Amino acid sequence: MNASINPPKVIGHRGAAGHAPENTLASIQKAFDLGVTWVEVDVKLSGDGEPILLHDDLVDRTTNGKGAAKDMTLAELKALDAGAWFGASFAGIHIPTLVELLVVLVERNMGVNLELKPSAGTAAETGRAVALACQDMWPENLPPPIISSFKTAALAGFADVMPAWERALLVHKLPDDWLAQADSVGATAMHCNQRHIKRHQVDAIRAADMPVRCFTVNDAANAERLYHWGVESLFTDFPERLL
Ligand code: G3P
Ligand code: MG
Repeated sequence: MNASINPPKVIGHRGAAGHAPENTLASIQKAFDLGVTWVEVDVKLSGDGEPILLHDDLVDRTTNGKGAAKDMTLAELKALDAGAWFGASFAGIHIPTLVELLVVLVERNMGVNLELKPSAGTAAETGRAVALACQDMWPENLPPPIISSFKTAALAGFADVMPAWERALLVHKLPDDWLAQADSVGATAMHCNQRHIKRHQVDAIRAADMPVRCFTVNDAANAERLYHWGVESLFTDFPERLL
């Protein structure tokens, strides 16, 4: 049985990525300051197997380093500056680990959607490793997360270890076989790109008794339209525009 999760209508994307460097603790803090109670973050593994928050396979865009995260140890990743690229006031902050994220969430009583964002070729391994880490250290007083991924192999790897937590299949364009794909990994929610989703597709997903959540929605009019269609939650870089 999957835990039934009711996330709020507004979920901070990568923290509050419009205001602070994505997937950093500063971004989580900014989301909290804006009144957000749930955030989405991207999780992958360092070369030595530690779950960290990072979107891209490469560190180039969001740090002062170069190269693939999967080829770097946690110590090497921690030595990078993950804030200066966004703004001088964020210089000196670092890529957080999943453990560090959990401390911040507990202190602020926030919930989280962990998006499994495996580096190329590591989907099943990433799913399993993140699940093992969660199994070891998930704080008692933190609600269970929603686990999502574009990669069914990552969701399957997670489910091998931690089958009870809600899994969501992420898609850009809804494929014809979305329900078969979701069923194959026990995913009970769909997270869809707002650019491509059609009203009849929202209807079809809801008819299958699955919640629909959409990313990334940064304007209020678009948000209203999607809520009106029955979309449950929206991921946004600018929570203040939707709240
Ligand atoms: O989880 C929703 C959204 O974050 C998926 O796309 O590329 O922003 O991780 P992306
Ligand atoms: Mg994401």
